[in-house]
Amino acid sequence: MYAAFCSIGAYVPEKILTNSDLETMVDTSDEWIYKRTGIKERHIAADNETTSDMGVNACRIAIERAGLSHNDIDMIICATISPDYFCMPSTAAIIADKLGLQKVTAFDISAACTGFVYALSIAKAFIESGMKKNILIVGAEKLSAITDYTDRGTCILFGDGAGAAIISATDNKEHAIIDIHTGSDGSYADLLMSPNGGSGSIHDTLEHTACFMQMKGNETFKVAVRTLTNDVVSILADNSIEASTVKHFVPHQANYRIIKAVGDALNLDEAQVVLTVEKYGNTSGASIPMAINDIYESRRLQQGDLMLLDAFGGGLTWGSALVPFAGKGK
Ligand code: COA
Repeated sequence: MYAAFCSIGAYVPEKILTNSDLETMVDTSDEWIYKRTGIKERHIAADNETTSDMGVNACRIAIERAGLSHNDIDMIICATISPDYFCMPSTAAIIADKLGLQKVTAFDISAACTGFVYALSIAKAFIESGMKKNILIVGAEKLSAITDYTDRGTCILFGDGAGAAIISATDNKEHAIIDIHTGSDGSYADLLMSPNGGSGSIHDTLEHTACFMQMKGNETFKVAVRTLTNDVVSILADNSIEASTVKHFVPHQANYRIIKAVGDALNLDEAQVVLTVEKYGNTSGASIPMAINDIYESRRLQQGDLMLLDAFGGGLTWGSALVPFAGKGK
């Protein structure tokens, strides 16, 4: 059995936070943010809207587009760093319940912005081993809940949203996910972290419950460019695939300058590079499926198109994947 990427769906909350809005909150400017990051605006979940609420909306669309019924799903993996509850239950279990699935295997994974690629690799392994047939993977983030809106170094970057995909078993080799690379290096843990609230917290966790993200932006930027580039170069070489044959390069949407540097290193045309950072900002684990959904919605994604996914995030973690789209275009 092979694992096929059969459908995509996404959900974007209604409220928009523009760069001009941020100008009233911290010492920054629309010009600085756009020039340094490529971000114009990001969407923010409503106060009563949770990560699972957004995730479930994306999942419903992905299930419908795959032509499946909810009961066909035998596993749900949720990639998130902003779960509904920090210790338990998992956001995946809550999503399963909201979908009316009480017996499905459901769990979260923590690989920050690489979470969706990690989830994809787990789904591929479960399907190729014959243990599961239809796996729902979802990246869902309410990063606004863990963003410090007094820190201009981070609050300009992040947004909320969710994206989901169905990975199914197939005997059609042309639809098979070709390869996935994943890796991590915990010696860079302090570049990007939420230092409070866990057993490693340096504070009294009862008094400092906020799990705000902290980032060494400039150092992270340099490691991101190096890691993302090395990773895609190596997955293409390992599979003897030329970058020119990639239809859609779908990188994690953290910063336009990072994406541009990686695209240039691979000699990619602008038309090959999927960009959503301008309107969504960085939505961590949701960023890649939201970007795939964007090319689906705009009818640029067709059956058989080769996608090259490339992600990088806190941990540090990284991952890349060569994935033909097995679903039907819109
Ligand atoms: N508005 C205005 N000025 C700002 C600012 C803001 N929002 N944030 C930082 N600055 C200032 C700094 O204080 C610094 O001022 P100084 O020169 O007087 O000291 C100056 O701008 C340059 O700061 P620096 O951090 O070197 O900027 P940068 O070009 O590296 O851009 C980031 C900052 C965060 C946009 C960029 O480093 C980045 O995108 N990093 C990677 C982020 C990332 O990928 N994170 C997620 C991984 S999944």
